[in-house]
Amino acid sequence: MTTKRPFTWGAATSAFQIEGSGEIGQRGTSIWDVFCEIPGKIAGGANGLRSCNHVSHYRDDVALMKALNLQGYRFSISWPRVLPEGTGTVNQAGLDFYDRLVDELIAADIAPYVTLYHWDLPQALQMKLGGWEHPDTARHFADYSRLIFDRIGDRVSHWFTINEPWCVAYFGYFNGAFAPGVQDRRRGFQVGHQLLRAHALAVAAFRAGGYRGEIGINLNCEFMYPASDTIDDRDAAQRALIDMAGWFGDPVWFGDYPNEMRSAYGDLIPQFSDEDQKLVKQSIDFIATNYYFSDLVSAAPGENPMGYIRRSDPNRPKTAMGWPIVAEGLESLLIWLTQRYGNLPVYLTENGMAKENEIVEDGFVHDPERIDYIRTHFESARRAVEKGVDLRGYFVWSLIDNLEWAHGFAKRFGLVHCDFETQVRTIKDSGLWYADWIARGGWNAIESPQHLDSNSAGERESCMES
Ligand code: FCB
Repeated sequence: MTTKRPFTWGAATSAFQIEGSGEIGQRGTSIWDVFCEIPGKIAGGANGLRSCNHVSHYRDDVALMKALNLQGYRFSISWPRVLPEGTGTVNQAGLDFYDRLVDELIAADIAPYVTLYHWDLPQALQMKLGGWEHPDTARHFADYSRLIFDRIGDRVSHWFTINEPWCVAYFGYFNGAFAPGVQDRRRGFQVGHQLLRAHALAVAAFRAGGYRGEIGINLNCEFMYPASDTIDDRDAAQRALIDMAGWFGDPVWFGDYPNEMRSAYGDLIPQFSDEDQKLVKQSIDFIATNYYFSDLVSAAPGENPMGYIRRSDPNRPKTAMGWPIVAEGLESLLIWLTQRYGNLPVYLTENGMAKENEIVEDGFVHDPERIDYIRTHFESARRAVEKGVDLRGYFVWSLIDNLEWAHGFAKRFGLVHCDFETQVRTIKDSGLWYADWIARGGWNAIESPQHLDSNSAGERESCMES
């Protein structure tokens, strides 16, 4: 049993990005394995067959987490490792791997936060059914989820169904930058819809099964600041937030897509059946979001169906991803989500900074920019807490350098450096800094910590109103 903590400081990874295919419990093929084979899709022609070989190194990796003083670890399960065909015969060795990982975490007093789907759909389902476009894939996802709840649910208290459905639909089906590489907006909205059904069916299985703990979905949203103070730009920024966060956030809380999206996209937006609507409405126990950067938004009628255009603030420094560093955007986003969906508990499930060409020198990796990035974002989140956001946990992306999807291995996000040739791991300065931050009590190390412990809903609501 893990100890209940008022706040969890952690780090995050995902299966496809760190695991490698693995000699033990070798996994089935995912849509990302196939996508990596298409020339020109992944920088440097990289793939996920080896990466950090976490399946062989998981004990070392949990020891690293312990050295970082992590209280929680968010990782994802590889569906094709557990069910190589997506459904049917279970790969016991694959399932055993996650069982052992969870045991190892519990023994280290690190709470497991489990994501059921972080983009690596079994290729078999893509071939047989057309993947997420087919309604049966949602049903198979719920069956797979039940299998995982049954096996490790006695030791896990926080679950996430689907990581960033926005990215799956947008990058996978609008612009084709991610697997499976489709460029068709109508199909993208259909996939988004099936992801919502999949989430809702898994949550229904979780709730009906009486498993312990809480469940949600990982949203992702950049905060959208109006490019000017005009009413038009301010409205445009709200529409941009609704277009991104509301696309998935509104259905899982209110039970339907935002009106603004329905009027803008018309019949591209699917309808929920009565039955699906009942399942999807209030299908989250908490808000979980990832945050990396913010943009500036101007009204631009005709530019896109929602009538806005986004750009990055040219005056901001950028990370190696080209993303502008806007720490205060995290505060704004957390407040926006809490105001829209009510005072639910909130988890920040990813936030971090990419760098390139990081090297180990005399056993150290000096990354002062990353320390600055995470420190300023911690402070930003703390301001949101002071204004009433019920933030319960913060997970830095990422525990360790890994395969950054279409960007290959060049973009390093880790608190721990990975030499992909030798598999040697080195804690970066940012990791040492984070370990110290957690040891000193996180925010409690800086002044006025009381509100973090008191957690009084009444107190928070009144803050939100002021
Ligand atoms: C998020 C993904 C995660 C990682 C970060 C940088 O969108 O969820 O896997 O790639 O971006």
